[in-house]
Amino acid sequence: MKTSLTYYGHSSFSININGTNVLLDPYISDNPMTTIDPSAVDADYILVSHGHQDHLGDTIPIAKRTKATVIANFEIANWLTSQGLKNVHPQHIGGGYNHSFGYTKMTQALHGSSLPDGSYGGNPCGFVISDAIEKDKSIYFACDTGLFSDMKLIGQENIYVAVVPIGDNFTMGPNDAIKAIELIRPQIAIPVHYNTWPLINQDPLSWKNKIEERTDTKVIILEADQKITF
Ligand code: NI
Ligand code: MN
Repeated sequence: MKTSLTYYGHSSFSININGTNVLLDPYISDNPMTTIDPSAVDADYILVSHGHQDHLGDTIPIAKRTKATVIANFEIANWLTSQGLKNVHPQHIGGGYNHSFGYTKMTQALHGSSLPDGSYGGNPCGFVISDAIEKDKSIYFACDTGLFSDMKLIGQENIYVAVVPIGDNFTMGPNDAIKAIELIRPQIAIPVHYNTWPLINQDPLSWKNKIEERTDTKVIILEADQKITF
């Protein structure tokens, strides 16, 4: 496996797994943290965690241009079909599927999921992409969520990288995100969903120091548009 993550800031990533481009929550054109032009982004798949605009983002124009398959919960998948998308793959919480880039399971998230036009967007989710780094080394994107103790069960799925929100206000804040890492016990943690707007300003360095003092997890703080390869 050769996997890279490019962070577009906020909670948006381009994940490249063995040459397949998977976008997660492509909030790009309105995202104050990135300078990337959404019309230049490649996608074979797009994962959408929930219906909020800072996650749905540029899903529709990118999917129309690239013909990428959008993976989302059943309600969002149906809504995207009604918006003219042809390639959608509905899943739901607890369900996984062997996509060409790897087995991907939807996990629960404690949050909302209404769509931009007020349509019902089902329940929000996170994703575990199994074997994404190498065999038995998975990536967990918690996406927008509060802390829940079943993160301990997710931690039993050999999570190598856990991507968790720390911004507070809309999601877990730094203290609950430390508890989340203690439950998940990944090798590497990446904080997201902070410093996009003043309401979610946080100090990721202080979070990193606390995690590395208390746990064996290493924290990688990504700058917007930074790419890391595993
Ligand atoms: Ni949200
Ligand atoms: Mn959000």
